[in-house]
Amino acid sequence: MTQSPEIRIFDGLEPLSWAAATRLEEQARVKAIEKKPLSVALSGGSTPKLLFQLLASPTFQGHVRWSNLHLFQVDERCVPPDDPQSNFRIIREALLESVPLPKENFHRMAAERPDREQAAREYAEELARVLRPAPEEWPRLDLVFLGMGPDGHTASLFPGSQALEERTAWVTPNFAAKLDSFRLTLTLPVLNAAAHVIFLVAGADKAETLRQVLEGPEGHFPAQLIQPANGKLSWFLDESAAHLLKKK
Ligand code: 6PG
Repeated sequence: MTQSPEIRIFDGLEPLSWAAATRLEEQARVKAIEKKPLSVALSGGSTPKLLFQLLASPTFQGHVRWSNLHLFQVDERCVPPDDPQSNFRIIREALLESVPLPKENFHRMAAERPDREQAAREYAEELARVLRPAPEEWPRLDLVFLGMGPDGHTASLFPGSQALEERTAWVTPNFAAKLDSFRLTLTLPVLNAAAHVIFLVAGADKAETLRQVLEGPEGHFPAQLIQPANGKLSWFLDESAAHLLKKK
C-alpha cells in the first residue's frame, strides 16, 4: 500500500528550491557516512534550474561530497547536447560547470543519436553498471526530481503516449505528439522503483491540473502514476501552483 505523499507548500520558487537542495544535501551526508554513493536523477524544463544554481552556490557546494554523487537524467529532448532545448545544457550551465563532480559521475542521455532505441538501451546499461540491481530487479535510484507540465505529464511521459504503457524497458524513446518531437525518458517502473521521488511544481498555470492530480480521481494523468512501490513521494509546491488545493 503506497504511503500518502509528503506535500510541502512554499511561498515561492526560491524557498522551494532551497528545500530541494537541502534534501539532496541531507541525503548526500547520510550516504557519505554509510560510505555509499548517492544516485540522483534530474529532470529538465525550467523549474529545477534554480535548484541546480543553488547546489552550485557556495552555500551548498561545500556541503556535498561530489565524488560520492552520481547524477543521471530523467529524460532528454532528441537534440544535440549544446542545443538551447537540451536538458543537459541547462544542467551543464547551471550546475556541472561550477561543481567538482567527477566527469564520469554525470551520466548523460545521448538522445541526439539517430538510433534512439540503441541510445535507450545504452542508457539502461549505464544505469545497470552504476546502480547494480539484482537480477530481475529494477534499478533503484536514491533520489529523483520530477516536474509536471500543465497537461499532467512528468518526465517525458505525456498523456496518451506509448511510453506510458512500457513495463519492461528501463529507458525508452517516446513521441510527444503535441510537441511533434521525440524524447528519451526513464520509464514508470524505474521511476517507481526509486527510494525517494520529489516533484517540484511551481506556477499558477499548473494549479488546476495539480488539484486534479492530488485530489481528483486516480489514473487520469501521468503524474498520478508516480507511486514509488517501496519509497517516499514528496510534492514541493509553490503557493501559486497550490492555491486550488482543498487540503492545504
Ligand atoms: C522536460 C521535463 C518535463 C518537465 C515538465 C515541467 O524535459 O521538459 O523533464 O517533464 O519537468 O515539462 O517543465 P517546467 O519545469 O518547464 O514547467
